[in-house]
Amino acid sequence: MREPKRHLITSALPYANGALHLGHLAGAYLPADIYVRYLRLLGKDVVFVCGSDEHGAAITMRAKKDGVTPQEIIDKYHALNKDTFQRLGISFDIYHRTSAPLHAETAQGFFKELYDKGGEFEERITEQYFDEEYQQFLADRYIVGTCPRCGHEDAYGDQCESCGSTLSPTELIKPRSVLSGKPPVLKPTVHWYFKLDKHADWLRTWIEEGTLDGNPHHDPKTWKKHVTGQCLSWLDHGLQPRAITRDLDWGVPVPLDEAKGKVLYVWFDAPIGYISATKQWAADHGKNWEDYWKSPDSQLVHFIGKDNIVFHCIVFPAMLKAHGDYLLPVNVPANQFLNFEGRKFSKSKGWGIEQHEYLEDFRDFPNKEDALRYALIRNMPEQRDSDFKWDEFVDFHDKELADNLGNFLNRVIVLTQKYYDGQTPAGNFATSVHGETILRLTKELAAAIESFNFRDAIQKFLEISTYGNVYLQDVSPWAIWKDEPDSAVVKECLHTCLQIAKVLSVVVEPFLPFTSKKISALLNLPEVQAGDFARLLDQLEKGQALIPAGHTVGEPVVLFPKINDRKDSSRLELIEAQKAQLAAVLAAEQEEARNEFAPLKPTIQYDDFAKLDIRTGTILEAEKVPKADRLLKLRVDLGFEKRTVVAGIAEHFNPEAIIGQRVLVLANLAPRPLKGIESNGMILMAENEAGKLCFVTPQEGWPNGFGVR
Ligand code: MF3
Ligand code: ZN
Repeated sequence: MREPKRHLITSALPYANGALHLGHLAGAYLPADIYVRYLRLLGKDVVFVCGSDEHGAAITMRAKKDGVTPQEIIDKYHALNKDTFQRLGISFDIYHRTSAPLHAETAQGFFKELYDKGGEFEERITEQYFDEEYQQFLADRYIVGTCPRCGHEDAYGDQCESCGSTLSPTELIKPRSVLSGKPPVLKPTVHWYFKLDKHADWLRTWIEEGTLDGNPHHDPKTWKKHVTGQCLSWLDHGLQPRAITRDLDWGVPVPLDEAKGKVLYVWFDAPIGYISATKQWAADHGKNWEDYWKSPDSQLVHFIGKDNIVFHCIVFPAMLKAHGDYLLPVNVPANQFLNFEGRKFSKSKGWGIEQHEYLEDFRDFPNKEDALRYALIRNMPEQRDSDFKWDEFVDFHDKELADNLGNFLNRVIVLTQKYYDGQTPAGNFATSVHGETILRLTKELAAAIESFNFRDAIQKFLEISTYGNVYLQDVSPWAIWKDEPDSAVVKECLHTCLQIAKVLSVVVEPFLPFTSKKISALLNLPEVQAGDFARLLDQLEKGQALIPAGHTVGEPVVLFPKINDRKDSSRLELIEAQKAQLAAVLAAEQEEARNEFAPLKPTIQYDDFAKLDIRTGTILEAEKVPKADRLLKLRVDLGFEKRTVVAGIAEHFNPEAIIGQRVLVLANLAPRPLKGIESNGMILMAENEAGKLCFVTPQEGWPNGFGVR
């Protein structure tokens, strides 16, 4: 694996059906941006592509909900997301869209190539749900019904959001169409399937050993464990052919005469969006897109969230390999999920904050973009899920950005202005132990970025800043200068600190690009540009000064005014307002929970009640019923006899814990067989709104067998 000549970096194409929240940013966009900015600073040839994913039922559903056309939806959110990314400094070279004609052409060409090759696709006729009133087949998301696993009544055809199970539409109990609300009918339809199963063997070798066609491809140890783990688990479960066409009127038309009215499945066309985006970028910049996708001198890396792993590590690579002449990714450093104040982001529940909302709410907050980037990087969900908390946001900002970085830079500039009229004193930083240490830390930072460990990388950055602070404090030039304004020690100290400030301006750029510009301005140097990281390493290695003696620095500015500031509460108020919103959501939820008693059942007559024979009893024995998660087999003492009752309470109670429990039993219920055991009666339970159960028990001291009336 030699040094690549070119880098092609992608971030998952977001659906243009809504705004993105901070979790998306931390998952797939910010890490990619850090990596890309770093490569550019090394002077590498890199292209960073992304864009809107504008097809699929997610878009048409959204349009239907909002009562507008899909085109209006994608236009709105494409513009919003593109603009928001740009404002946050996510430096895509192109933000394309899958509704572009170039994309349709590219995706159709790709499909056609595999189709014409033969052996990659298979045609299958299957029965699918059809809405007779609307005269159309229903995408999985267009069918809702009762979840066969948990009983939730509004489960989707592909997934139950209540219990998280993956479903297929025909598993739903009492299915109904989202369009007409009526039960759909099954009708045969023809679709094309990509024979993923036939790629299983080489995929496994590629993922486990990092070899492809017998040649080394990548070092499998560089892949994240959770990514490799998820891939191998898919492979272990066995790959199946996957339908890559749909009966839908929104998407890229299937380029076959016999496929009128059918479109490519969104997960077939979307990753090809990376290719069409690269084509468009190349056309705009006089480059050859194939250099990036097909030359062995190039390296492809996909940044995604963990929910996209199978598509980027199994399905898309198989498509590329089947096509034949494309590169496969050398890494897919997927992130896990970011939670928000202890819970999942949820727009409908009002939990979390979207990127553009943050920019709006914090519009008067100085350096808001980098304050956010910093908090997200410090807590990036690289190996496991992590949690965004406003209190941590404040701590990161005040303790690290303000007290550490900002304070160091400010002191250095103020002192240089005061002692030397802003002129950089001469010194020996580059050949000193300080130069050596900073070089080592800078290399460690680089290595961390190269291995996608961005949290470690930003720690290294912080170490460099801390090193400068501690050094400045140790020397305390202010204590010497009052008596000895010409002191060589003071000159050496400020020379060294200014060099460290220059290092910070460069190494911070991938993480905090806005701050990098501000540091350069403080130092009165041009903005950091392509190749500067490589130049920096080179100069440090060679023992050359980074800022020459005599260079005049700029005027001091406070880069990060603290949030906790006794003289100005405006920034803390912004944070308090965010927390207050969350507190209001929690309060409203509690209120709602209080009101959530089950409605009363229809009235019955006394005679109906009198038919029930309810007796006091005691549980004598309890055991789990094999192969039935919810059932316990109980032996109950009713005073006059002992009987077996099977109760659906295994998810609520451990068998050992309920031996001796006093209960009320409906004793004249007709016997019924449950999992092969005859149940004689029913234990009375009370159930709260969350589905939790408790026993209804007789007063203490009352023996078994008495009737309830
Ligand atoms: N739109 C998808 C999502 O948000 C991601 C598509 S990534 C691509 O989950 F590779 F298909 F483009
Ligand atoms: Zn369910």
